[in-house]
Formats: sequence, structure tokens, C-alpha cells
Amino acid sequence: MQYPDKVKLVDVGPRDGLQNEKTMVPAAIKIELVHRLQAAGLKEIEVTSFVSPKWVPQMADALDVMAGIRRRADVRYSVLTPNMKGFETAAMSKPDEIVVFAAASEAFSQRNINCSIAESIERFAPVVAAAKAAGIYTRGAISCAVGCPYEGDVAPKQVERVARLMKSIGVEHMGVADTIGVGTPLKVQHALDAALKHYALDDISGHFHDTYGQALGNTLAALQLGVWQFDTSIAGLGGCPYAKGATGNVATEDVVYMLHGMGIETGIDLDKLVDAGQFISEFLDRLPNSNVATALLNKRVV
Ligand code: HMG
Ligand code: MG
Repeated sequence: MQYPDKVKLVDVGPRDGLQNEKTMVPAAIKIELVHRLQAAGLKEIEVTSFVSPKWVPQMADALDVMAGIRRRADVRYSVLTPNMKGFETAAMSKPDEIVVFAAASEAFSQRNINCSIAESIERFAPVVAAAKAAGIYTRGAISCAVGCPYEGDVAPKQVERVARLMKSIGVEHMGVADTIGVGTPLKVQHALDAALKHYALDDISGHFHDTYGQALGNTLAALQLGVWQFDTSIAGLGGCPYAKGATGNVATEDVVYMLHGMGIETGIDLDKLVDAGQFISEFLDRLPNSNVATALLNKRVV
């Protein structure tokens, strides 16, 4: 089995990780988290979302957070933009990349972004065009690529359809998301294969929540297909406000440990990463949701 030599991780903790937190996390803490992630060697950070503050109050400080980051030339900063209003505000903060997010299930599309899948593509088209004109890279995400909290199992052909529609409007990269973490390795491979009908291997990433503890297995299954880009979340933080009970993305610490153990480079310093996870976990008054972080922190105490 040939595995990739290098893997690119996008830490989505500041966005996906924090968006569902009930207590407001001050912008200064979010900014410090971004600084600690880049100090640990992350080269891609999903910082925030330009969404309705009525829908996701935690992301209401998106402009402040983007303005407060000390940017590094070797780090790329991405933000979510569901429509032109979000894009226009986001553009003021000069992101390197924007993310338009659709779903493979109609019910989730309605709950998450208040429109059908077809309507979401219509809303994204001008966003993608405007991003292109401004020289901003466009990533897409397909939520519920294996299962939906409202509709149950999701067939690969539903993923293929959304990937085709996203491609048709010019979205450059596609993230295949197991929003509620119900996927198992073969189902995840089928969802990725569906997206691969429209996107090249180098333009695909996996975004696996770990609700059922399957995310590392799913990551390995994706690596076996040659997928080498993944979204992960520091300290395993997170969950989506419109996916009840779903927990965070697979912890960045756990993925880095697995990859380094397989001889795959990430450019990330695991010790500094654990520090970043400890920082945000202490602020949230909980332990990191990562076996690797827990093991390494226990070793430090001894
Ligand atoms: P809507 O209510 O249908 O929008 O929301 P609208 O165009 O009818 O406008 C209604 C009001 O919202 C207006 O304000 C707009 O100005 C305002 P009012 O006149 O009532 O005062 N508005 C906005 N304000 C700020 N920023 C905006 C914006 N757009 C409209 N961009 C909308 C549509 C998409 C905005 C809404 O449904 C929304 O914000 N949803 C939140 C979605 C979200 O953030 N979900 C979580 C992230 S996705 C995720 O976690 C999945 C992912 O991780 C992958 C995975 O795991 O699956 C990516
Ligand atoms: Mg997510």
C-alpha cells in the first residue's frame, strides 16, 4: 500500500471547533488560538465564518478576529462565506481562501443554510465569481456526505451531484464532510469516490467528525485512496449547531500522531500542538477531547 509522503492539515478548530460553544469566546482568545496553531506549524487555518449572527452568535466577531491575527506569509487563512453578504464582509478581511458549504441532503441544507441544495448553488455562483475576481481561492464543502441527522443514510450519488454542481460554478477544491461522524471506512471511501468523479485527487479533502469514534479509521481509508488533505480540529473541539449530538472533528493531535507514526510528514510540532489544545481547553474549562493529547499531558505530569 502506497501512502502519501506528506499530508496537509487544515485546523478548523477556531471555526468548526468554537462555532457551537454556548458561552462567548472573546475574540482575543480566538486570535491567541490561531497564533498558537501557527506556532505549532499549521500552515492552513480555518479562522471564522461570515454567517448570520442570529444563526451562529459565536462567529459574530469574525471581522475582529481576522483583523487581530498576526499573519504569517507561509500560512493560509480561510473563512466560511454562505452568500454574497458574507463574502462582501469577508473580503474586507482579506482571507486567502473562502469556503462555500452545501449539503448532500436536502433537509440538512434547509436547516443549515435555509435553502434547498439547488438554491445554495445559485447563491454560491456569484460568491465564487467574486472570489475569483479578487484572487481568492475557493473551497467547497459537502456536508452529510455519508449520513444526515434528518434523512439517515446518504447515497454516494447525492454527493456526486453536489460535487458536479460545485464544479460547474467554479469551486476549486472539495471537502467531503461526515458532519455527524456516522461514517465507517468503506462508506467514506464511496463518498470520496463520488466526489472524485468531478474533482482531481489533489483537489479533494476529508472532513471527518468523530462522534462514533470512526474518524481516524476514516482518515486511514481516505489515505488509502491517495487523499492527502484533511480538516482536523485542535483538541477535538466542535460540532455543528444544526447537527444535534454531533461532536467535533477528529482531533488534530490524534491525526498528527497517526501520520508521524506512519512516517508521513505534516510539518507540525506535536508538543506545541498539544500546548495549543491545552490553552483552548483550559479556557473552555474542559479536558482536550484527544487521546493523544491526554496521553502526552499525562506523561508530562509524571
Ligand atoms: P437567511 O435568514 O435565509 O438569510 O440565512 P437572508 O438572506 O434571508 O437574510 C436574513 C437576515 O440575515 C438579514 O438581516 C440579512 O442581512 C442577514 P435582517 O435584515 O433580518 O437584519 N444575513 C447575514 N448576516 C451576516 N452575514 C451573512 C448574512 N446573510 C444574511 N452572511 C444564512 C441564510 C446562510 C445567512 C443563514 O442560514 C446562516 O447564517 N446559517 C449559518 C450556517 C452555519 O454557519 N452553519 C455552521 C457552519 S457549516 C458546518 O459546520 C459544516 C462544515 O463544518 C462541514 C461539515 O462538517 O459538514 C463546513
Ligand atoms: Mg464540520
